[in-house]
Amino acid sequence: MKKVLSVMIATISLSALIAGASIAADKTEKKSGEAEFKKHCAVCHPDGGNTVNAAKTLHKKDRDADGIKKPADIIAKMRNPGPGMTQFDKKTIPDKAAQAIAEYITKTFK
Ligand code: HEC
Repeated sequence: MKKVLSVMIATISLSALIAGASIAADKTEKKSGEAEFKKHCAVCHPDGGNTVNAAKTLHKKDRDADGIKKPADIIAKMRNPGPGMTQFDKKTIPDKAAQAIAEYITKTFK
């Protein structure tokens, strides 16, 4: 009986550990979009603005005017930017991080 109980306790604490770990992973995922944005983009796009070309901010109105509506469109811009913007290839920002940045932008800059 004692053994059964300790196996049960071990199982419960193990699943609590797994649940805790997956919540933590979720948080890093969300944070990394913001962190990556701050690292690579915020120099020219502080608060979603644009210090180089004021007409091309990351806010929805300006993005919409240029047909940049989905996260995929933002990733396309990183891979193939216009004049004045740094190019970010997959080596600098891998697809997963690029996706996280793009989602951060669409969620944050309305
Ligand atoms: C060196 C400055 C600079 C950096 C760094 C930079 N950008 Fe830009 N960005 C610009 C300029 C200038 C434009 C306007 C030219 C163009 O449309 O490509 C622009 C335009 C954009 C647009 C289109 C906005 C619109 O309204 O049409 C998006 C989206 C964008 N940048 C995303 C990013 C992301 C994401 C990063 C980081 C991974 C980034 N930029 C880093 C300068 C920069």
